[in-house]
Amino acid sequence: MKSVLILQLLVALAWGYPSLKNTGICEPTKCKIEEDCRCSSTNNPINNRDDPAPQFVALTVSESLVKTLHYHYLAPLFFNRKNPDGSPVGASFYVNHEYTDYELVQDLYLRGFEIGVHSITKNSSQEYWRHATYKDLVEEFAGQRQIISRFANIPVEEIVGVRTPQLQFEGDLSIDAYVESGLTYDNSWPTRSTQPLLPYTLDYVSNQECTVSITCPKRPHEHFWVAPITNIKGKDNVECNSLATCLIEGTPQEIASWLIGQVDHVRNRNRAPLVLRLDSYWFEFTHNSFEGFTLFLDEMANRDDVFFVSVRDVLDWIKHPVSAKNYKTPIRDRYAECLPINCALKFLDGSIRYMQSCIKCPEQYPWKGNPMGEITK
Ligand SMILES: *[C@@H]1O[C@H](CO)[C@@H](O)[C@H](O)[C@H]1NC(C)=O
Repeated sequence: MKSVLILQLLVALAWGYPSLKNTGICEPTKCKIEEDCRCSSTNNPINNRDDPAPQFVALTVSESLVKTLHYHYLAPLFFNRKNPDGSPVGASFYVNHEYTDYELVQDLYLRGFEIGVHSITKNSSQEYWRHATYKDLVEEFAGQRQIISRFANIPVEEIVGVRTPQLQFEGDLSIDAYVESGLTYDNSWPTRSTQPLLPYTLDYVSNQECTVSITCPKRPHEHFWVAPITNIKGKDNVECNSLATCLIEGTPQEIASWLIGQVDHVRNRNRAPLVLRLDSYWFEFTHNSFEGFTLFLDEMANRDDVFFVSVRDVLDWIKHPVSAKNYKTPIRDRYAECLPINCALKFLDGSIRYMQSCIKCPEQYPWKGNPMGEITK
């Protein structure tokens, strides 16, 4: 008994386990990808120098989808861009409710982009997310999943991913709420650039580092996936994962070179997928960011092993891993109808909110606790 404990302690020290309570160590022989299980690890399933894994870059946006974002940034950056296999590039949009234009959400969906959940309120208070109850979280995530599906008129099963606002996820409580909401993966948990983890499931407790600002899951959650957000290095080599908070400034070429360097850093190592957070305020407030980012995308198009895909595509790849040479960007058959209508709706405080919808207007502005916007007594 004693020796088992000592062994566990040694393993815990060697692997940097967050707590001795988590003794169910993941073993690849027991946790197999064919059974929808993968241990948290920096091992790439494709590890062949001559025929390497694709280097994925998953660009992610978690904010309201509005016309300026769509027409000023997304359209010129992504809509006519191709991956090395000739298919259109992908990206993931974790959408929150307020101000979102659901006609644009459907447009992105039909163009092949991934639509995921951010929350209904995107409450700016960190405390709110840290102390949210299970009920709050289910209302935020399941509610937003329903809102997107209904008002953008897209199938609810197509919405599987989630990012918690400000990356404040609450460990087991959040994951239970995600599962209850019909979501199958999380994209809220950053990992250090020195620990470039590939996506994994929570069948066993993960060895991803728990920073002070988040609560980490301590219980197993079968077949629930985590797509870690790998940090990159920004100004003064500080770790960051949102391009805006990396604080790099300079000419367009300098900004592009910085981004290319970050991709090459992982590309020359284990080729863990790089998840980058893109914000419209980076384009608005950082001089040359749009030009620099465009240059970066243009330069990347010259590499035949770098693919811009959605987080969901990354998860599909890890379930069926192939080398860069054999990789085909998934093209999903998508169909949806939209009869665009601009709804003027009453909000809780009596003010009027406008919401662009693909179906007839609800009675009032959809919100937490009333995602369908029905008349309440
Ligand atoms: C955000 O959370 C705080 C409590 O932390 C609450 O008072 C406030 O009403 C919330 N705001 C929104 C927009 O939901």
